[in-house]
Amino acid sequence: MGSRERIKKGFSKLLKEEKLKLIANYFENPGEVINLLKSYWHADKGQQKLFDEFSENTITNFFIPYGISPNVLINGKNYIVPMVIEESSVVAAASAAAKFWGERGGFHAEVPGVRKVGQVHFGWKGTLAQLQTLFPEIRERLLRDTDPFTANMRKRGGGILDIKLIDYTAQIPDYYQLRVEFDTCDSMGANFINTVLEQFGHSLHDFFAERTELPEELRQTETIMTILSNNTPDCRVKVWVECPVEQLDGIDEHLSGADYALKFKKAVDIAHIDIDRATTHNKGIYNGIDAVVIATGNDFRAVEAAGHTYASRHGRYESLSSATVENGIFHFELEVPMALGTVGGLTSLHPLAKKSLELLGNPTAPELMTIAATMGLANNFSAVRSLTTKGIQAGHMKMHLNNILNQLKANDEEQRKAREYFQDKTVSYAAVEQYLESLRK
Ligand code: MEV
Repeated sequence: MGSRERIKKGFSKLLKEEKLKLIANYFENPGEVINLLKSYWHADKGQQKLFDEFSENTITNFFIPYGISPNVLINGKNYIVPMVIEESSVVAAASAAAKFWGERGGFHAEVPGVRKVGQVHFGWKGTLAQLQTLFPEIRERLLRDTDPFTANMRKRGGGILDIKLIDYTAQIPDYYQLRVEFDTCDSMGANFINTVLEQFGHSLHDFFAERTELPEELRQTETIMTILSNNTPDCRVKVWVECPVEQLDGIDEHLSGADYALKFKKAVDIAHIDIDRATTHNKGIYNGIDAVVIATGNDFRAVEAAGHTYASRHGRYESLSSATVENGIFHFELEVPMALGTVGGLTSLHPLAKKSLELLGNPTAPELMTIAATMGLANNFSAVRSLTTKGIQAGHMKMHLNNILNQLKANDEEQRKAREYFQDKTVSYAAVEQYLESLRK
């Protein structure tokens, strides 16, 4: 073991090899760790440099499996969907649901809107009435000063849609907000929005500073901060599946399709009234959504943050999906906010993100929203289906057995025999080890 003293200042200034060596000292066998971490470096130096520069203080790459869910039918179009996820069963669950619904008309999706929001949080000592009087002029100034930044986006059909003034002075003295709405076309738009907002902050400052007719204290503004909001309820996608209840016959060997539809609906309803279940239920939805969001180089933290806020829009956290059974029709839908991009940012920089988009037929941002949401609904359907029939462990245990067999270096023949043997037995590390020992005697 190397020395474990505190890392001195200036770590970020070290060369990558030096950082790696220093960190390796924190392990039992530094040489082995250096070799292991280096084995995950990309063979092509140029590619590795690209990855190093996505972030800071990088010493290696962390792999996450890149899987495929084939044949996902959305609005009559067939997609091959890339999914990047470390959790076993997610891709299998999504694919099973895609196959199931592909035989029942596929997924249907629509994007009701793509509005995004940014905020300028500022302080000003005047009254709301005074600010409102000046607002038309302020607005004009803000638009004029950001004209060069928005020109391109406007050419593409987007830009600034609206600027609203919000009075928060009752809660925090002198605190006002500009709530700015944007259409960022096919880009996620974080950079665009933040650039515009920062200019708004400067312009606001200049506007008041130049108003010589105002008393001194009203010629000053405090720009507290300017930043986009990840709350995007108006940048939203809705996806649904439906079929006559008879088409659910056979899902549960003990229930008719009609009765199973009601049981499934009950399971979804529980996630509407119980927060503990809602959290897990929605986590299952984000298993599918995040996998597509990551595969296409988008920001899954932003997507999840927006989703969980949306799940609380009625004043209590609840399920993002809902189910109905009416007039013999089972309907299952998901509506989620989602700010995605298909141009700019990591979507254009990460070589695999680019390939993911190509595999999806280079979709527009709204189309990508429909695909990611579909995988969310697909995973949600499979999870609730498993939970309400054979339970989740049956599928997980298969993967668990595979992992244990790999850890114990079982050969193909041993794996085949073990899978057969454990079909009706409880899988545990000790039990598998014992079984392999018996085979190997
Ligand atoms: C596991 O990653 C996701 C589930 O727990 C989702 C759910 O319970 O609905 C299976």
